[in-house]
Amino acid sequence: MKNLFRLKDCTAEEIQHILDTAEECRKGVYDDSLCNKIVANCFFEPSTRTQYSFNTAELRLGCKVITFNPAGSSLAKGESFYDTVKTFESFGIDAIVIRSAEDEYYRCLDGHLGIPVLNAGDGKKDHPTQSLLDLLTIRQEFGHFEGLKIAMVGDIRYSRVAHTNIEVMERLGMKCYVSGPEEYREEGYEFIDFDQAVKEMDIVMLLRVQNERHERPMQISTEEYHQRYGMTAERVKQMKENAIIMHPAPFNRGVEIADEAVECSHSRIFKQIQNGVYVRMAVILRAMEKEHE
Ligand code: CP
Repeated sequence: MKNLFRLKDCTAEEIQHILDTAEECRKGVYDDSLCNKIVANCFFEPSTRTQYSFNTAELRLGCKVITFNPAGSSLAKGESFYDTVKTFESFGIDAIVIRSAEDEYYRCLDGHLGIPVLNAGDGKKDHPTQSLLDLLTIRQEFGHFEGLKIAMVGDIRYSRVAHTNIEVMERLGMKCYVSGPEEYREEGYEFIDFDQAVKEMDIVMLLRVQNERHERPMQISTEEYHQRYGMTAERVKQMKENAIIMHPAPFNRGVEIADEAVECSHSRIFKQIQNGVYVRMAVILRAMEKEHE
């Protein structure tokens, strides 16, 4: 049974293998015979991309899908997270996809479930399938990871995307920097001035300011944020010819990215979203032990 809690638990070889499977899925070469499998998507926190791309991936593989609606569930009657998940397992489903605002929610499940858990994001800790789709997009663009330079810009401290990406990207030979407002910086990562990053990086990854996780409002206005840390049309012109812009989305136009930059020639934002379906197909196949060899 192959859970996917964190990419830290996967070797570099396993990660490359998942990306290879995702590429096969992109080319239409996959086993779509999972019609007797039922997958439950249990999102205890809002999501558009992750939830519905998992849903699309499951349908492409022939799975039957249950979508959990927390607002209409017995959580309102005091049922716990653990008992909710155990209830789904008791239905006889084959795998469960979970997102929660709790860091490492999966610790209370580990060893207590007989079905694979696919982590669709936990608090500010990990977002393994987001990092896999980011890696797939980078590998498609550059053909390798070794020696590439990436800056992640914005709310680093509260970003599960930044935390997961920096660990795995460094392991795969990339050089990672962080940039953005001081209030969202975190010890242990190499800082770079944003305008320098725009000129020097192969990849500039913008991050949303995650107000829902903050105890106090951002100390600068959104206008000032855009002016100091936003990917404006002027900054796009400063990028290296082959450099790309990424963003896990949802993005806030006019804050971390200008309207004109969202779909400019350097942007791979919608490509990332497309790749999300392929990597989620790959991790479902892995969970069901149906990966290609
Ligand atoms: N990137 C991402 O996780 O988006 P959602 O929150 O919409 O799933």
